Amino acid sequence: MSDTNGPKHHKPREGFTTTLGVLAATLGSAVGLGNIWKFPSLTGQNGGAAFVFVYMICVALIGLPVMISEFIIGRRAQCNNVSCFKELEPDPKKPWYLAGIIGVAAAFLIMFFYTDVAGWVYQYAFRAVTGGLAGATVDKAGAIFGSYIGSVAGPLIWQWIVLVTISVIIIAGVTKGIERITKTLLPILFVLLLICDVRALTLPGAMEGVKYLFNPDFTKITGGVVLAALGLAFFKLSVGMGTMTTYGSYIGKKESLPKTAVRVALADTFVSMLAGLAIFPAVFAFGMKPEAGPSLLFVTIPAMFASMPFGQVFLTMFFVLAAIAATGAMISLLEVPVAYLTEEHHWSRVTATIVSAGAMGVVGSLATLSTSVLSKTLIAGKTFFDLFDFLSSNVALPVGGIVICLFVGWKLGQKVIEAEASNEGELKNLAFLKVFTFIVKYLAPIAILIVLLNGLGIIKA
Ligand code: TRP
Repeated sequence: MSDTNGPKHHKPREGFTTTLGVLAATLGSAVGLGNIWKFPSLTGQNGGAAFVFVYMICVALIGLPVMISEFIIGRRAQCNNVSCFKELEPDPKKPWYLAGIIGVAAAFLIMFFYTDVAGWVYQYAFRAVTGGLAGATVDKAGAIFGSYIGSVAGPLIWQWIVLVTISVIIIAGVTKGIERITKTLLPILFVLLLICDVRALTLPGAMEGVKYLFNPDFTKITGGVVLAALGLAFFKLSVGMGTMTTYGSYIGKKESLPKTAVRVALADTFVSMLAGLAIFPAVFAFGMKPEAGPSLLFVTIPAMFASMPFGQVFLTMFFVLAAIAATGAMISLLEVPVAYLTEEHHWSRVTATIVSAGAMGVVGSLATLSTSVLSKTLIAGKTFFDLFDFLSSNVALPVGGIVICLFVGWKLGQKVIEAEASNEGELKNLAFLKVFTFIVKYLAPIAILIVLLNGLGIIKA
């Protein structure tokens, strides 16, 4: 492609107007249950600091370049995640847009289990308000959580409450409102995490947890661990499926795409570390097992607040804010199929939302029941919950990431990369862009492929 000016026939579109607005929106999608629930649970299941180390390498070398690539595609094409590939590659014989379709499928896979966990969070917010967690010790909090996710009706009802909530928001189209809410409330969540950190770090025996998080034992790294870290990097940064392509299309021409991506990745990783520092010291101080996985957040946090003055108030705030962060992330996920169905297939927004959310609820209930009646139903050795989680983060997002890198590196090529990512030469970052081009053309796709095949046990590295 020799024309470096991009498509010109579009009507002027709405977009984010300020640098802070761009950051808040992208961070609003990135920060979610991934930081406070998935990051600690995967870190605990994969051996601690060594996993964190590999995760950070994955963020820097792969997640970040994929995010910049998505921004480039989106800002260049100025449209949704499927149309943008068609826009930049009109030849129907070269079906790059299939990457967009994989993205839509990945949104569903993620939502099947995300709505379940979000339901737990909503329920915990409610329970905290009504005083149901007051004075919970670790044992008591563990028992409450175990019996809750082991029941059938409650978790299903809360999953549907989550789905109805996000559907109403999506149908009303008040994305901007939610963005504004997230922008003001995320800093509060941040402060609460800091309070948790101080409390956790002053518990007797807290240093064990800090060591667990920062003192790596590299013998714990296996192909599966690396794949889990890579999958988490994609999931955390909301990349590999087109959310950032869509957001890229709203970013103004004056913003620096690489700088935006670096800031988002740094801030997001920082939030995850704060969550890790709140949870692991408490895990060790309370004598819990770090491998407990998904339950860590729901047991350590209530137990920790229960031992503090005004604990009930803080606990309520914590879960309400976590619910809001999860809601912001889910809206960016539900919007992906809705935008696709309305723009490409001309469905009405209401129908697209109801059908998508309905499908997420019906199939998602399999994930929800995985902790109760379906706990013994295994597919390839995994419960439905684990299967949806694995297929999305560890298969669909990395495959999407490979295609996105190849598209930007080989189809768009050096000239377009330089034009988009240096704002037509205004930013003096050409040396960086040479490295970036090398990464998206060769390093990232090959590395993702090797990690994927090795993690799936198809090749032995
Ligand atoms: N990043 C979000 C979280 O950590 C989840 C999320 C939102 C996401 N949009 C996404 C994950 C797109 C992958 C792709 O909670």
